[in-house]
Amino acid sequence: MEAITPEQFRNMLQSAIQAPSADNHHPVRFQLDGSRILVHHTRTTWEQPGYQRVLDLLSLGALAENLVIAASRHGVRAEINLLPDPDQPGLALSIDLQPDEAQSDPLWHEIPKRHTSRQFRFRGPPFDVAERAQLDAITHAHPSYTLHWLETAADRNPALALMRRAETERFRNRILHAGLFTAIRFDVGWRDTSETGLPPGALGVELPLRGLFAALRHWPVMRMANRFGAHHLLGLRSCDLPCRLAPNLGVLTVKKIDTPSVFDAGRAFQRIWLTTTRLGRVLQPMPASALYALDGADAAGIPKALQQSLAEGWKTRFGSRVPVMLFRTGRAQPSFVTAGRPAIDSFMKAF
Ligand SMILES: Cc1cc2nc3c(=O)[nH]c(=O)nc-3n(C[C@H](O)[C@H](O)[C@H](O)COP(=O)(O)O)c2cc1C
Repeated sequence: MEAITPEQFRNMLQSAIQAPSADNHHPVRFQLDGSRILVHHTRTTWEQPGYQRVLDLLSLGALAENLVIAASRHGVRAEINLLPDPDQPGLALSIDLQPDEAQSDPLWHEIPKRHTSRQFRFRGPPFDVAERAQLDAITHAHPSYTLHWLETAADRNPALALMRRAETERFRNRILHAGLFTAIRFDVGWRDTSETGLPPGALGVELPLRGLFAALRHWPVMRMANRFGAHHLLGLRSCDLPCRLAPNLGVLTVKKIDTPSVFDAGRAFQRIWLTTTRLGRVLQPMPASALYALDGADAAGIPKALQQSLAEGWKTRFGSRVPVMLFRTGRAQPSFVTAGRPAIDSFMKAF
């Protein structure tokens, strides 16, 4: 049995951090322990209500899936154990690596190519039957999560109304506005990337609107503009129209909103995204309306009435299943600016 080389370890970890994450921030540290990788996380309470833990788990799931796929490239089977030690809640994953035991998963080619696209218009055609079958196969065998497509106007319109309300709230609500704009790295300018946070150039804001958008990061300016309905326009521009015009609009739901189910949904979401990339499409996640509907979202600043109304809206569509991720896909030119990542060495745990 061949040992895993330092280059292979490095490639696996590098691939892991290329996974998408909420606001381009993976709050993890890696520790190598023989043929195991331990993943430490800054989150130490995984069962809290609200949506921050759902964002963390989806991102962690995507990171784990990338690592499994990258390991397979080297013939290594990676077995993931989520929260392996109840006495160490900060130890999020223990990953056992077995060389010579895996078949290469061709999705590894897509890991460096995948990026979030936020261009206003994604073009068609929608996925054909064979492409849809590939994507649907990712979730078919797993009853804990399900992929749904919103295709007809009757399907899309009620969902779009919920999505628009949540995205509008991000500009209307002072707490959400602060969360949104502090993640944007205006300090790097519109042409450069950033290792963490969102480089403005990756946001798909059209050239003539950039100055105005940058000014809206100041709450007094945003509040004043909202008197003239700016939040409604932004909800329409950033969410409703792009999703209405997108060739495909997908939703990932879970049967239970517990920790393993959401983590597994994050893994599945990453496979969906990489497969979408392989099929020559781009993707933008838009989970706000699902997240703000979760129990406990009000503790993070979501008005209780909005949380309840979003929850009721999703219940009407999906019954007892809980949406955790919504996304649009289609064809678009590659983005000129994409989010970067810090050097892999900065993710190694220091002792
Ligand atoms: C759980 C999760 C939630 C996200 N939510 C949004 C979102 O609401 N809007 C958006 O444009 N991108 C969203 N993203 C995409 C991230 O911003 C993106 O992955 C990150 O900035 C890194 O960029 P990259 O995907 O181009 O590598 C989300 C990603 C994840 C994993």
